[in-house]
Amino acid sequence: MGSVCNGFLLVAAVVWVVVSSGGAQAQLSPAFYATTCPNLQGVIRSVMTQAVGRDPRMGASILRLFFHDCFVNGCDASVLLDDTPTMIGEKNAMGNANSLRGYEVIDAIKSRVEAACRSTVSCADILALAARDAVTLLGGPSWTVPLGRRDARTASMAAANANLPPASDSIGNLVARFASKGLSLRDLTALSGAHTVGAARCSSFRPHVYRDANVDPGFAMFRRRICPASGGDSNLSPLDPTSPNRFDVSYYRDLMARRGLLHSDQELFNGGPADNLVRLYSSNGGAFNRDFAAAMVKMGNIGPLTGSAGEIRLNCRRAN
Ligand code: HEM
Repeated sequence: MGSVCNGFLLVAAVVWVVVSSGGAQAQLSPAFYATTCPNLQGVIRSVMTQAVGRDPRMGASILRLFFHDCFVNGCDASVLLDDTPTMIGEKNAMGNANSLRGYEVIDAIKSRVEAACRSTVSCADILALAARDAVTLLGGPSWTVPLGRRDARTASMAAANANLPPASDSIGNLVARFASKGLSLRDLTALSGAHTVGAARCSSFRPHVYRDANVDPGFAMFRRRICPASGGDSNLSPLDPTSPNRFDVSYYRDLMARRGLLHSDQELFNGGPADNLVRLYSSNGGAFNRDFAAAMVKMGNIGPLTGSAGEIRLNCRRAN
Protein backbone atom coordinates (compact mmCIF):
# COMPACT_ATOMS: atom_id res chain seq x y z
CA MET A 1 0.00 0.00 0.00
CA GLY A 2 2.84 2.34 1.02
CA SER A 3 4.67 1.75 -2.27
CA VAL A 4 1.48 2.25 -4.32
CA CYS A 5 1.01 5.52 -2.50
CA ASN A 6 4.65 6.52 -3.13
CA GLY A 7 4.22 5.61 -6.78
CA PHE A 8 1.17 7.84 -6.95
CA LEU A 9 3.07 10.72 -5.37
CA LEU A 10 5.91 10.26 -7.83
CA VAL A 11 3.53 10.36 -10.81
CA ALA A 12 1.80 13.41 -9.33
CA ALA A 13 5.16 15.15 -8.90
CA VAL A 14 6.18 14.40 -12.49
CA VAL A 15 2.84 15.66 -13.79
CA TRP A 16 3.25 18.81 -11.69
CA VAL A 17 6.75 19.48 -13.07
CA VAL A 18 5.62 18.92 -16.66
CA VAL A 19 2.52 21.07 -16.29
CA SER A 20 4.28 23.84 -14.40
CA SER A 21 7.19 24.07 -16.86
CA GLY A 22 4.64 24.14 -19.68
CA GLY A 23 2.87 26.83 -17.70
CA ALA A 24 5.96 29.08 -17.77
CA GLN A 25 5.87 28.96 -21.57
CA ALA A 26 2.15 29.54 -21.68
CA GLN A 27 2.71 32.93 -19.99
CA LEU A 28 4.09 34.29 -23.27
CA SER A 29 1.40 35.99 -25.32
CA PRO A 30 1.40 37.80 -28.67
CA ALA A 31 -0.65 40.61 -27.09
CA PHE A 32 1.80 41.20 -24.22
CA TYR A 33 2.65 44.80 -25.26
CA ALA A 34 -0.67 45.61 -26.95
CA THR A 35 -1.46 48.43 -24.54
CA THR A 36 1.99 49.24 -23.12
CA CYS A 37 3.82 49.57 -26.45
CA PRO A 38 1.34 49.44 -29.34
CA ASN A 39 3.87 50.58 -31.99
CA LEU A 40 6.53 48.05 -31.02
CA GLN A 41 6.28 45.81 -34.07
CA GLY A 42 6.26 48.77 -36.48
CA VAL A 43 9.40 50.24 -34.91
CA ILE A 44 11.27 46.93 -35.13
CA ARG A 45 10.09 46.31 -38.65
CA SER A 46 11.29 49.70 -39.84
CA VAL A 47 14.82 49.34 -38.38
CA MET A 48 15.07 45.78 -39.72
CA THR A 49 13.90 46.84 -43.19
CA GLN A 50 16.68 49.45 -43.32
CA ALA A 51 19.34 47.12 -41.94
CA VAL A 52 18.52 44.23 -44.31
CA GLY A 53 18.16 46.69 -47.23
CA ARG A 54 21.70 47.93 -46.58
CA ASP A 55 23.19 44.47 -46.00
CA PRO A 56 21.02 41.41 -46.74
CA ARG A 57 23.37 39.17 -44.77
CA MET A 58 22.32 41.11 -41.67
CA GLY A 59 18.98 39.26 -41.80
CA ALA A 60 20.86 35.98 -41.48
CA SER A 61 23.02 37.35 -38.69
CA ILE A 62 20.05 38.49 -36.59
CA LEU A 63 18.33 35.12 -37.07
CA ARG A 64 21.45 33.36 -35.82
CA LEU A 65 21.70 35.72 -32.82
CA PHE A 66 18.25 34.57 -31.72
CA PHE A 67 19.19 30.88 -32.07
CA HIS A 68 22.37 31.42 -30.05
CA ASP A 69 20.39 33.29 -27.41
CA CYS A 70 17.73 30.61 -27.00
CA PHE A 71 20.13 27.64 -26.86
CA VAL A 72 22.11 29.09 -23.95
CA ASN A 73 20.02 29.33 -20.77
CA GLY A 74 16.86 30.08 -22.76
CA CYS A 75 15.71 33.13 -24.76
CA ASP A 76 16.78 35.74 -22.23
CA ALA A 77 19.02 38.06 -24.30
CA SER A 78 22.05 36.77 -22.37
CA VAL A 79 23.94 36.65 -25.68
CA LEU A 80 23.74 40.44 -25.92
CA LEU A 81 25.56 41.17 -22.63
CA ASP A 82 29.09 42.55 -22.93
CA ASP A 83 31.76 41.09 -20.67
CA THR A 84 32.37 42.96 -17.42
CA PRO A 85 35.29 42.76 -14.97
CA THR A 86 33.27 40.22 -12.99
CA MET A 87 31.47 38.33 -15.76
CA ILE A 88 32.75 36.56 -18.86
CA GLY A 89 29.74 36.36 -21.09
CA GLU A 90 28.77 34.55 -24.29
CA LYS A 91 30.13 36.90 -26.94
CA ASN A 92 33.61 35.39 -26.82
CA ALA A 93 32.49 31.75 -26.58
CA MET A 94 33.72 29.35 -29.27
CA GLY A 95 30.70 29.52 -31.59
CA ASN A 96 30.31 33.28 -31.19
CA ALA A 97 33.70 35.02 -31.22
CA ASN A 98 34.56 36.68 -34.56
CA SER A 99 31.38 35.17 -35.91
CA LEU A 100 28.12 36.51 -34.42
CA ARG A 101 27.05 39.83 -35.92
CA GLY A 102 24.24 42.32 -35.61
CA TYR A 103 24.59 43.59 -32.04
CA GLU A 104 24.52 47.19 -33.29
CA VAL A 105 21.22 46.59 -35.11
CA ILE A 106 19.65 45.39 -31.85
CA ASP A 107 21.10 48.49 -30.14
CA ALA A 108 19.50 50.71 -32.79
CA ILE A 109 16.13 48.99 -32.32
CA LYS A 110 16.41 49.20 -28.54
CA SER A 111 17.06 52.94 -28.55
CA ARG A 112 14.05 53.55 -30.81
CA VAL A 113 11.90 51.27 -28.63
CA GLU A 114 13.07 52.99 -25.43
CA ALA A 115 12.19 56.38 -26.94
CA ALA A 116 8.68 55.11 -27.70
CA CYS A 117 8.01 53.00 -24.57
CA ARG A 118 10.50 53.51 -21.78
CA SER A 119 11.62 50.54 -19.70
CA THR A 120 8.85 48.30 -21.03
CA VAL A 121 10.11 45.93 -23.74
CA SER A 122 12.77 43.29 -23.08
CA CYS A 123 15.81 42.79 -25.30
CA ALA A 124 14.82 39.11 -25.47
CA ASP A 125 11.47 40.01 -27.07
CA ILE A 126 13.13 42.50 -29.42
CA LEU A 127 15.40 39.71 -30.63
CA ALA A 128 12.48 37.31 -31.15
CA LEU A 129 10.59 39.90 -33.24
CA ALA A 130 13.69 41.01 -35.16
CA ALA A 131 14.48 37.38 -36.08
CA ARG A 132 10.95 36.89 -37.42
CA ASP A 133 11.21 40.10 -39.45
CA ALA A 134 14.62 39.03 -40.78
CA VAL A 135 13.15 35.82 -42.20
CA THR A 136 10.15 37.58 -43.70
CA LEU A 137 12.28 40.33 -45.27
CA LEU A 138 14.45 37.68 -46.97
CA GLY A 139 11.35 36.08 -48.53
CA GLY A 140 10.61 33.45 -45.88
CA PRO A 141 7.43 32.82 -43.89
CA SER A 142 5.96 35.04 -41.21
CA TRP A 143 4.47 33.99 -37.87
CA THR A 144 2.96 35.46 -34.73
CA VAL A 145 5.58 35.85 -31.99
CA PRO A 146 4.54 35.09 -28.39
CA LEU A 147 5.95 37.84 -26.12
CA GLY A 148 6.60 38.58 -22.47
CA ARG A 149 10.18 37.34 -22.03
CA ARG A 150 12.39 39.20 -19.59
CA ASP A 151 16.13 39.76 -19.70
CA ALA A 152 18.84 37.87 -17.84
CA ARG A 153 21.16 39.76 -15.51
CA THR A 154 24.13 37.52 -16.32
CA ALA A 155 25.59 35.42 -19.11
CA SER A 156 27.97 32.49 -19.15
CA MET A 157 30.71 31.70 -21.62
CA ALA A 158 30.90 28.16 -20.24
CA ALA A 159 27.18 27.62 -20.88
CA ALA A 160 27.59 28.89 -24.45
CA ASN A 161 30.54 26.57 -25.08
CA ALA A 162 28.55 23.64 -23.74
CA ASN A 163 25.26 24.32 -25.53
CA LEU A 164 26.00 25.69 -29.00
CA PRO A 165 26.35 22.96 -31.64
CA PRO A 166 29.69 22.88 -33.47
CA ALA A 167 29.81 22.21 -37.22
CA SER A 168 31.56 18.93 -36.46
CA ASP A 169 28.45 17.47 -34.77
CA SER A 170 27.14 14.13 -36.05
CA ILE A 171 23.44 13.62 -36.76
CA GLY A 172 23.20 11.70 -33.49
CA ASN A 173 24.69 14.60 -31.52
CA LEU A 174 22.48 17.13 -33.29
CA VAL A 175 19.33 15.14 -32.57
CA ALA A 176 20.32 14.74 -28.90
CA ARG A 177 21.24 18.40 -28.52
CA PHE A 178 17.93 19.60 -29.97
CA ALA A 179 15.99 16.98 -27.98
CA SER A 180 17.58 18.36 -24.80
CA LYS A 181 15.90 21.69 -25.67
CA GLY A 182 12.54 20.05 -26.36
CA LEU A 183 13.01 20.18 -30.15
CA SER A 184 12.28 17.19 -32.39
CA LEU A 185 14.07 15.78 -35.43
CA ARG A 186 11.52 17.67 -37.52
CA ASP A 187 12.34 20.92 -35.70
CA LEU A 188 16.07 20.30 -36.15
CA THR A 189 15.68 19.66 -39.87
CA ALA A 190 13.40 22.65 -40.45
CA LEU A 191 15.46 25.05 -38.30
CA SER A 192 18.65 24.04 -40.10
CA GLY A 193 16.96 25.46 -43.19
CA ALA A 194 18.07 28.82 -41.75
CA HIS A 195 21.32 27.99 -43.54
CA THR A 196 19.54 28.94 -46.75
CA VAL A 197 20.87 32.44 -45.95
CA GLY A 198 24.12 33.87 -44.63
CA ALA A 199 27.72 32.79 -44.74
CA ALA A 200 30.32 30.71 -42.94
CA ARG A 201 34.04 31.21 -42.40
CA CYS A 202 36.61 28.92 -43.94
CA SER A 203 37.56 27.66 -40.48
CA SER A 204 33.98 26.36 -40.09
CA PHE A 205 33.80 24.42 -43.36
CA ARG A 206 37.44 23.46 -44.03
CA PRO A 207 37.27 19.98 -42.45
CA HIS A 208 34.16 19.16 -44.50
CA VAL A 209 35.49 20.18 -47.92
CA TYR A 210 38.94 18.64 -47.37
CA ARG A 211 38.26 15.48 -45.44
CA ASP A 212 34.64 14.29 -45.65
CA ALA A 213 33.61 11.64 -48.16
CA ASN A 214 30.00 12.67 -48.68
CA VAL A 215 30.78 15.82 -50.72
CA ASP A 216 30.31 16.53 -54.42
CA PRO A 217 33.92 16.68 -55.75
CA GLY A 218 33.34 19.75 -57.97
CA PHE A 219 31.76 21.59 -55.04
CA ALA A 220 34.65 20.64 -52.74
CA MET A 221 37.20 21.86 -55.29
CA PHE A 222 35.39 25.16 -55.72
CA ARG A 223 35.19 25.74 -51.95
CA ARG A 224 38.85 24.83 -51.46
CA ARG A 225 39.77 27.71 -53.74
CA ILE A 226 38.15 30.10 -51.27
CA CYS A 227 39.46 28.15 -48.28
CA PRO A 228 43.11 27.06 -48.42
CA ALA A 229 44.28 24.05 -46.41
CA SER A 230 45.93 26.47 -44.04
CA GLY A 231 45.40 30.22 -43.62
CA GLY A 232 42.45 32.29 -44.80
CA ASP A 233 40.41 31.24 -41.77
CA SER A 234 38.04 34.19 -42.06
CA ASN A 235 37.36 33.84 -45.80
CA LEU A 236 33.62 33.63 -46.32
CA SER A 237 31.46 31.33 -48.38
CA PRO A 238 27.65 31.46 -48.63
CA LEU A 239 25.94 28.60 -46.80
CA ASP A 240 23.56 28.27 -49.76
CA PRO A 241 25.49 29.38 -52.85
CA THR A 242 22.41 29.02 -55.08
CA SER A 243 20.55 31.95 -53.44
CA PRO A 244 22.48 33.28 -50.42
CA ASN A 245 20.04 36.10 -49.64
CA ARG A 246 16.80 34.29 -50.35
CA PHE A 247 14.95 32.31 -47.70
CA ASP A 248 13.93 29.36 -49.88
CA VAL A 249 14.31 25.57 -50.14
CA SER A 250 17.52 25.53 -52.18
CA TYR A 251 19.48 24.64 -49.01
CA TYR A 252 17.73 21.25 -49.05
CA ARG A 253 18.38 20.81 -52.78
CA ASP A 254 22.05 21.57 -52.11
CA LEU A 255 22.09 18.84 -49.45
CA MET A 256 20.59 16.30 -51.86
CA ALA A 257 23.34 17.19 -54.36
CA ARG A 258 25.95 16.70 -51.59
CA ARG A 259 26.65 20.41 -51.64
CA GLY A 260 26.09 21.20 -47.98
CA LEU A 261 28.78 23.61 -46.78
CA LEU A 262 29.15 22.42 -43.18
CA HIS A 263 29.69 18.89 -41.95
CA SER A 264 26.59 19.33 -39.76
CA ASP A 265 24.52 20.38 -42.81
CA GLN A 266 25.41 17.29 -44.82
CA GLU A 267 24.71 15.10 -41.76
CA LEU A 268 21.02 15.83 -42.42
CA PHE A 269 21.26 13.98 -45.72
CA ASN A 270 23.70 11.18 -45.25
CA GLY A 271 21.58 8.03 -45.09
CA GLY A 272 20.19 8.93 -41.64
CA PRO A 273 16.88 9.80 -39.97
CA ALA A 274 16.53 13.30 -41.49
CA ASP A 275 16.85 12.19 -45.14
CA ASN A 276 13.11 11.97 -45.76
CA LEU A 277 12.43 15.41 -44.29
CA VAL A 278 15.19 16.90 -46.47
CA ARG A 279 13.52 15.30 -49.50
CA LEU A 280 10.13 16.65 -48.42
CA TYR A 281 11.32 20.23 -47.84
CA SER A 282 13.38 20.28 -51.06
CA SER A 283 10.22 19.90 -53.09
CA ASN A 284 7.57 21.42 -50.84
CA GLY A 285 8.17 25.03 -49.86
CA GLY A 286 4.80 25.18 -48.10
CA ALA A 287 5.74 22.32 -45.76
CA PHE A 288 9.12 23.91 -45.07
CA ASN A 289 7.62 27.33 -44.33
CA ARG A 290 5.01 25.86 -41.99
CA ASP A 291 7.46 23.65 -40.11
CA PHE A 292 10.10 26.38 -39.90
CA ALA A 293 7.65 28.92 -38.48
CA ALA A 294 6.29 26.40 -35.94
CA ALA A 295 9.81 25.40 -34.90
CA MET A 296 10.83 29.06 -34.45
CA VAL A 297 7.92 29.54 -32.03
CA LYS A 298 9.01 26.39 -30.16
CA MET A 299 12.61 27.54 -30.05
CA GLY A 300 11.42 30.93 -28.79
CA ASN A 301 9.69 29.16 -25.90
CA ILE A 302 12.91 27.70 -24.51
CA GLY A 303 13.33 28.71 -20.87
CA PRO A 304 12.00 32.28 -20.92
CA LEU A 305 12.22 34.44 -17.81
CA THR A 306 8.72 35.66 -17.06
CA GLY A 307 6.71 37.41 -14.35
CA SER A 308 9.14 39.13 -11.98
CA ALA A 309 12.22 37.06 -12.92
CA GLY A 310 15.09 38.91 -14.58
CA GLU A 311 14.57 42.52 -15.64
CA ILE A 312 13.79 44.84 -18.55
CA ARG A 313 17.25 46.01 -19.51
CA LEU A 314 17.59 49.66 -20.53
CA ASN A 315 20.66 48.89 -22.64
CA CYS A 316 20.84 45.44 -24.21
CA ARG A 317 24.61 45.26 -23.61
CA ARG A 318 24.46 45.54 -19.81
CA ALA A 319 22.36 44.64 -16.84
CA ASN A 320 20.62 47.61 -15.22
C1 HEM B 1 21.89 22.39 -36.32
C2 HEM B 1 22.98 22.84 -35.77
C3 HEM B 1 23.71 24.06 -36.26
C4 HEM B 1 25.05 24.17 -36.43
C5 HEM B 1 26.10 23.10 -36.15
C6 HEM B 1 25.30 25.49 -36.94
C7 HEM B 1 26.57 25.99 -37.22
C8 HEM B 1 26.81 27.17 -37.88
C9 HEM B 1 28.11 27.63 -38.29
C10 HEM B 1 29.43 26.92 -38.00
C11 HEM B 1 27.93 28.79 -38.96
C12 HEM B 1 29.03 29.64 -39.59
C13 HEM B 1 29.67 30.53 -38.56
C14 HEM B 1 30.96 31.15 -39.02
O1 HEM B 1 31.72 30.50 -39.72
O2 HEM B 1 31.23 32.32 -38.63
C15 HEM B 1 26.52 29.08 -38.96
C16 HEM B 1 25.95 30.19 -39.56
C17 HEM B 1 24.61 30.47 -39.49
N1 HEM B 1 23.65 29.78 -38.76
FE1 HEM B 1 23.88 27.96 -37.96
N2 HEM B 1 24.11 26.16 -37.07
C18 HEM B 1 23.11 25.32 -36.66
C19 HEM B 1 21.77 25.64 -36.58
C20 HEM B 1 21.24 26.88 -36.87
C21 HEM B 1 19.91 27.29 -36.54
C22 HEM B 1 18.89 26.45 -35.79
C23 HEM B 1 19.77 28.56 -37.02
C24 HEM B 1 18.58 29.48 -36.93
C25 HEM B 1 17.33 29.08 -36.78
C26 HEM B 1 21.02 28.91 -37.65
C27 HEM B 1 21.26 30.09 -38.33
C28 HEM B 1 22.45 30.40 -38.94
C29 HEM B 1 22.61 31.52 -39.85
C30 HEM B 1 21.48 32.38 -40.37
C31 HEM B 1 23.97 31.57 -40.18
C32 HEM B 1 24.65 32.63 -41.07
C33 HEM B 1 24.94 33.84 -40.21
C34 HEM B 1 25.61 35.01 -40.90
O3 HEM B 1 25.81 34.99 -42.10
O4 HEM B 1 25.94 35.98 -40.17
N3 HEM B 1 21.89 27.89 -37.51
N4 HEM B 1 25.86 28.09 -38.29
